[in-house]
Amino acid sequence: MNIEHIRIRELRPDDSVAAITELLHTSYTPLAAMGFKYLATHQDEATTQQRLQGGISIVAELDGAIVGTATLRAPEAESRCAWYSQPGVWSFGQFAVRPDLQRNGLGARLMRVIERRAFQHGATELALDTAEGATHLVRWYERLGFRFIQHVSWDETNYRSVVMSKRLPDPNPWLRIPLSDYEAHMALPSVAQSQLLASTLQSIVTRFQPRSLAIFGAAGGNGLELVDSAIVRRVVALDFNPDYLRVCASRHGASFAEFQPVLHDLSQGAPAIEPVECIFAGLVLEYLRLDVFCSYLPSLLTAAGIFATVLQLPADGLPEVSVSPFPSLTQLQPAFAFVSPTHLDDLLSAQGFSRLEDERHDLNTGKSFYFVAYQLTNQPRER
Ligand SMILES: C[S@@+](CC[C@H](N)C(=O)[O-])C[C@H]1O[C@@H](n2cnc3c(N)ncnc32)[C@H](O)[C@@H]1O
Repeated sequence: MNIEHIRIRELRPDDSVAAITELLHTSYTPLAAMGFKYLATHQDEATTQQRLQGGISIVAELDGAIVGTATLRAPEAESRCAWYSQPGVWSFGQFAVRPDLQRNGLGARLMRVIERRAFQHGATELALDTAEGATHLVRWYERLGFRFIQHVSWDETNYRSVVMSKRLPDPNPWLRIPLSDYEAHMALPSVAQSQLLASTLQSIVTRFQPRSLAIFGAAGGNGLELVDSAIVRRVVALDFNPDYLRVCASRHGASFAEFQPVLHDLSQGAPAIEPVECIFAGLVLEYLRLDVFCSYLPSLLTAAGIFATVLQLPADGLPEVSVSPFPSLTQLQPAFAFVSPTHLDDLLSAQGFSRLEDERHDLNTGKSFYFVAYQLTNQPRER
């Protein structure tokens, strides 16, 4: 069984709760046989549904069947477990892998997705609880980097639980990738993404005619050679890799009336820039803390400003980061997390943005991308 054929995605409203309940029951049967009455050994469909909706639920799908699941939960201020009630501590539960697929890496793959999602939502710790007597599970979590935190007893189980937690490191490896490797990789005919991003930037400028433009994740300035400097007077090129910015400034600094290279980590908060009329962030949000980013985005735009982005869409059977002759690029794989267009839409709508246009691009390489442009139309609910 090649687990690479299994697709991991967010739960959809049309996913069968009955099938997920069945998956939970069969996956937890060995634990029930050991005497551990986990809720998942016997819960009904209504409980499954309630637990799925209590957080961000992901599923693993193989040939149309759901073969794995987990639900990531935000910090719970009222939790009986003191560790879970702390800000920054996200936890997961209802974790299952179909028994015939266990012990071949699918569980670890699901865990990686959960960790990335948690990190994207601002988690600094990822925690779980399990029966203290299920020592094989405790050892497995230890191997994945979880450590013992505390004991807790829940009303609905017949055992004492151990709470385990893992510190989530900032997985952003961009500082370790030479610009020459990145650019050569993106321009490969088998990748062809630099062409897509450059032409997208050019059309944004033609369509919206911004006098000031910020490019987030500017790298070496791909696409700036196509930007009409008679339209765009001021360019802000932002990246957190100083080597990229240096090259970007030397290539494009003299082409615009005003050119500002800004060294900043977008996951750490808002950069100190004068608001611009348009921001383009192409294939960058996948590496950021999305909620942090969306919360400060309006403050970087002038009234009725434009935010445009390109997101990578999941493609069955293809790795997130395309196969590359440049080994340094493989470091990006663990840092990458798909951004769901719907999730982005929810976050930006809450910040006062309205979607203006969107378009899907299917490349010959088999990968698909989603372009979307928003306009800041209302004051966000909270600033
Ligand atoms: C896939 S590239 C973006 C594509 C680029 N605009 C192009 O057209 O080739 C991602 C860029 O975002 C930058 N980046 C990643 N995480 C970042 C962060 N947290 N803050 C600022 N820049 C970041 C990387 O250094 C890299 O240059």
